[in-house]
Amino acid sequence: MNAPVRTFVPAAKDLHEPGYRDLAHLPGLKPHPLPLIRTVEFLKDPLAGVTANVAKFGRVYRVNNFGGWNVGLIGPEANELVLFDRDKLFSSELGWTPVIGRVFPRGLMLLDFDHHRADRRTLSVAFKPEPMRHYLGQLNEGIARGIAAFPTDAEFRFYPAIKALTLDLAATSFLGIDWGPEADAINQAFVAMVAASIGIVRFPLPGTAMGRGVKGHRFMSRFFAREIPKRRGAAGDDFFTQFCNARNEAGELLTDQEIIDHMNFLMMAAHDTLTSSLTSTLYFLAIHPEWQERVRTEIMAVRAEAGPALPFERLGDLEQTEWCFKEALRLLPPVPSIPRRALRNFEFGGFRIPAGTHVGVNPMYTHRMAEYWEEPEVFDPSRFSHNRSQGRHKYAWVPFGGGAHMCLGLHFAYMQMKSFFYTLLSQYRATVPDGYRCDFQMFPIPKPKDGLPIRLERL
Ligand code: HEM
Repeated sequence: MNAPVRTFVPAAKDLHEPGYRDLAHLPGLKPHPLPLIRTVEFLKDPLAGVTANVAKFGRVYRVNNFGGWNVGLIGPEANELVLFDRDKLFSSELGWTPVIGRVFPRGLMLLDFDHHRADRRTLSVAFKPEPMRHYLGQLNEGIARGIAAFPTDAEFRFYPAIKALTLDLAATSFLGIDWGPEADAINQAFVAMVAASIGIVRFPLPGTAMGRGVKGHRFMSRFFAREIPKRRGAAGDDFFTQFCNARNEAGELLTDQEIIDHMNFLMMAAHDTLTSSLTSTLYFLAIHPEWQERVRTEIMAVRAEAGPALPFERLGDLEQTEWCFKEALRLLPPVPSIPRRALRNFEFGGFRIPAGTHVGVNPMYTHRMAEYWEEPEVFDPSRFSHNRSQGRHKYAWVPFGGGAHMCLGLHFAYMQMKSFFYTLLSQYRATVPDGYRCDFQMFPIPKPKDGLPIRLERL
């Protein structure tokens, strides 16, 4: 049992930054004369890197893949300890700040404990069933329009196409605007902000990924600041307008800065994760036509009764579609690893880990551990059927995290995914070139290196 609960969070500057010596008692990597080489090597194949570390060192190990020292905590028990965080040992703010703090400061995931709980509750109004029903109506319309514009009977790169469509959809559900000339600039700002999270240079120098990311953040913040006065007191079912009018438990509105921070983060949290997971799901359905056919049969049965726009009440009927999505999230989780920073000393796996240590849990690796997943490399959506899920460790599948910071948008993600496949697969068969296998870049968010060549054949 670790030390008792306390929600005071020391500032990062008051926590000791454990170096090699503080962690020398743990198994793991030794110092490297050129740690940047290690980062570059790791980014080439992160899954192979983690697999090699676990094989060599076990489930608790020391690494310095991104310059500073941190400790990998591997497996469902580690996920539960860190994500559920019963003893309030781990700071999400201090874990994520070195990764995305410059570009997404004070986003919900970068707040801790009482502050986090209060803001999460305030923002939750926008995720209740009524607004969700409204977003689904908009998603159905936008997706039908977007898919009608996809090339048919000719190969095209799916990843950029779905990225653009997801951004268009965000314009209506997130921002409440009809998409216009600002779309390209916003798209570029987001790409730059996300790319900055793995920029090797961590300072915003001109010409670096971090420099472009910080510029993107400035652009987006100005955009939101301009719009906020128009939304205060206005009616609107989009996330942005709801955040502008949401009140906390004391009846107070969020400040302009809080709205800007939450919107910047929310757009990022939703946009790239959806783009990645819709791409991976379609890829697996294209290389497993038998599953594509099962999903289509399920969709057609609903469509025969409900018509071309998926009704909110029928979301639960797309069970096998959901299994396929879950299986794609297992194999290619959009958030492959999740960082935290220990606020106090703690013990795990027989090791003492000092306060201040940066730790990381790893959905990407956990999702392929043979002791929890039969034939882990095989795409087998029925492993998510009710029967086969029984008895599985609750933290063996964590694409949406867990505990207090568990993804706030997961129902939105399922909804957009179902609306998309309902519309696409009821009209088209999706194929890839014969024998094609996609090479996904894993970090920071999985994406196909070649954009994923897809062909849509009208049924
Ligand atoms: C397949 C799609 C998605 C995946 C895999 C995903 C994954 C995650 C994960 C792993 C976390 C927790 C990270 C941590 O504990 O440090 C998270 C948090 C979050 N996600 Fe998602 N996400 C997805 C889609 C979305 C969407 C569509 C939205 C918004 C509509 C969203 C909004 C958020 C927010 C606001 C948080 C922070 C929650 C908190 O700190 O309390 N996500 N997401």
